[in-house]
Amino acid sequence: MAVDLLLGLQWGDEGKGKIVDVLTRNYDIIARFQGGPNAGHTLEFDGIKHVLHTIPSGIFHENAANVVGNGVVIDPVIFRKELQNLEKFNIDISSRLLISRKAHLILPTHRLLDAASEAAKGKAKIGSTLKGIGPAYMDKTGRNGMRVGDLELDGWRDKYRALANKHEAMIQFYDVDLQYNLKELEAEFLLGVQALKKIPIIDSEEYLYQAQKKGKRILAEGAQGSMLDIDFGTYPYVTSSNTTAAGACTGLGIAPNMIREVYGIFKAYATRVGSGPFPTELFDDDGARIARIGNEFGATTGRPRRCGWLDLVALKYAVRINGVTQLMMMKADVLSGMPKIKVCTAYHYKGEVIEHLPFNIEAENVTPVYTEMPGWSQDLTELSEADALPGPLKNYIAFLEQELEVPVRIVSVGPDRTQTIQRQPAESQ
Ligand code: GDP
Ligand code: IMO
Ligand code: MG
Repeated sequence: MAVDLLLGLQWGDEGKGKIVDVLTRNYDIIARFQGGPNAGHTLEFDGIKHVLHTIPSGIFHENAANVVGNGVVIDPVIFRKELQNLEKFNIDISSRLLISRKAHLILPTHRLLDAASEAAKGKAKIGSTLKGIGPAYMDKTGRNGMRVGDLELDGWRDKYRALANKHEAMIQFYDVDLQYNLKELEAEFLLGVQALKKIPIIDSEEYLYQAQKKGKRILAEGAQGSMLDIDFGTYPYVTSSNTTAAGACTGLGIAPNMIREVYGIFKAYATRVGSGPFPTELFDDDGARIARIGNEFGATTGRPRRCGWLDLVALKYAVRINGVTQLMMMKADVLSGMPKIKVCTAYHYKGEVIEHLPFNIEAENVTPVYTEMPGWSQDLTELSEADALPGPLKNYIAFLEQELEVPVRIVSVGPDRTQTIQRQPAESQ
């Protein structure tokens, strides 16, 4: 009986979708445990790029069931669009997708509240994806939320109306100019609810427990990244859920002692979309080059992602908080052709050099201390063997393994499923 976890170690967009897709052949169940349609998980195979927001990234495999867990917040409108996209590819969704009765719903007015809150914050805005995530989780923890299971009960419309009315009053509070047509938004919402109700709604914690008992292999899929965690991220510039390993326990009902491997995913550099501190952010040609070659635009909002060097201080912190047992390094191909690669190994902080993450990592508080390493010029995108990786990249990986004290088991060298290099444990290399 065991569950493996896969989660992002940086500020999201590490490549979780791609790796979940690659790993799905080894699992019977893929289960999303938190976040909502703020996520954009990209998969590529057979020349087609797919972006998923709510639906787990194992959906393209016949062998696996995909569970949207209780910790996820679901917007029926976006969910319906995702279903429609998948139908184009003739995927028999109702046989592969299951939704937790306890997952919370994002109402149209949650999206409006998100927009109003951000507008009111002005320059201090979070840079949210405007998908209503914060307001939906606020209603969850405030014990006012609506859950998928409510849709099975008579009278859910009354509950909906009362909550939407309250939200409208709250929007007034923000005193911002927000144009909207709630009738239209609600018509879309109802279509979404109808689509959602066609998917099996289950007690997912019970389903997962029984599956574990039968020896089924389960992979929990995270969204966002550890530095966006509500508790451990760069608060308040974070998302509203626990993106770290503990979130899989609460977001799926999995007991901590059932967790086996924790796969931690990171890019060979760092990116961040939205506002908030990012000590290693680059504002020079190197940053622009990474953004261009890495095609760093948000999969959900299309916004340009801020780019910078790998931050080992933050990465070590994430590895520890999650108890990562295996690392996966993504987008190594993007760094090909850079003569020098920098890695931040410490921060200058209040006149000292520190190696831990302080309370505040705003630019006025911390300046990165870099170690410089030689780069490589070879194109990596056609490689399939770990042995064939260029020497300087092998050194870069060895350096990271030494610093993080966890092995790098996958090196990703392109967006396609096939551009994935497995590395063996050191003893068998
Ligand atoms: P996620 O949110 O963690 O699933 O990541 P996203 O899908 O938002 O962003 C990752 C982006 O990088 C997507 O466009 C992927 O297709 C792409 N990608 C993933 N792995 C690699 C890789 O190794 N090399 C390159 N060049 N692109 C990659
Ligand atoms: P995936 O799963 C990158 C960021 C937003 C914003 C902050 C809060 O694709 O890695 P929210 O809408 O959650 O209230 O926004 O979090 N953010 C992400 N950044 N990848 C994501 O998901 C993100 N989900 C939210 O840009 O800064
Ligand atoms: Mg993404």
